[in-house]
Amino acid sequence: MAHVLAFANQKGGVGKTTTVVSVGAALAELGYRVLVVDLDAQACATFSLGIDPEDVEICTREILIDHAAPKTAIIKTAESVDLLPATIRLADADAALATTKGREFSVRNALEPLQNSYDWILLDCAPSLGIVTVGALIAANSVAIPLQCETLSHRGVGQLLQTVADVRKYANPELKVAGIIPTQFDGRTTHARAVLADLPATYGVEVLPAIHRSIRFAEAPAAGRTVLSTAPKSIGAQNYRALARAIVAL
Ligand SMILES: Nc1ncnc2c1ncn2[C@@H]1O[C@H](COP(=O)(O)OP(=O)(O)OP(=O)(O)O)[C@@H](O)[C@H]1O
Ligand SMILES: [Mg+2]
Repeated sequence: MAHVLAFANQKGGVGKTTTVVSVGAALAELGYRVLVVDLDAQACATFSLGIDPEDVEICTREILIDHAAPKTAIIKTAESVDLLPATIRLADADAALATTKGREFSVRNALEPLQNSYDWILLDCAPSLGIVTVGALIAANSVAIPLQCETLSHRGVGQLLQTVADVRKYANPELKVAGIIPTQFDGRTTHARAVLADLPATYGVEVLPAIHRSIRFAEAPAAGRTVLSTAPKSIGAQNYRALARAIVAL
């Protein structure tokens, strides 16, 4: 059975997608069978793995809402991870699911037939706490929370942890918080160091290895590859390898 790990934070631009594809590539390097599931209509994970969303015929929208068979949508990528791609068509998914019975379980049901084909299924959530994101939390064994090391980035983490508590209570009692992933960390600033030091006490959850700020991350998606391929020796690639090992060891 795969371990389903959701990456969620309703705040935008905190590094969810970068983390999903980079951890995915790092887990693949370690020999694991990895599936990345793009649950965001922005389709950045899809694009970052070298797939043009415009060319995608079956995306997560068709799987979640029209009950297309998930296996028909899987694309193999150059990073040795498989991808369930998104397209802009996913943009109306929350609205379409709102009137659907059993909507909470749409993601879990979609992943069910894939459970035996992968070791890790990584869910890239949109910056929202809508039905699809909650569905991802219901489908997940654990959730990781990428968080920028800046004071304002903390706004909303409490709400996300409350949503996790609600999901546990009503639908998925086994859901674990894998931890907070400090992203875009700049160790030269006192502020970033102070924010990082405060994290364990502030949230009472595990703090996973931090990812340093680096321009290499902005460059990689244009090549349709992750930083592990475009800059394999960079600090960012090393950070994500360390993070993947920490996630495996949890
Ligand atoms: N460690 C890093 N150092 C520098 N830039 C980074 C780092 N991680 C991510 N970025 C850049 O920050 C931007 C946002 O990252 P990303 O798309 O991964 O965030 P996100 O949380 O998925 O955003 P959204 O909420 O819109 O889905 C991107 O341009 C990405 O290249
Ligand atoms: Mg994203």
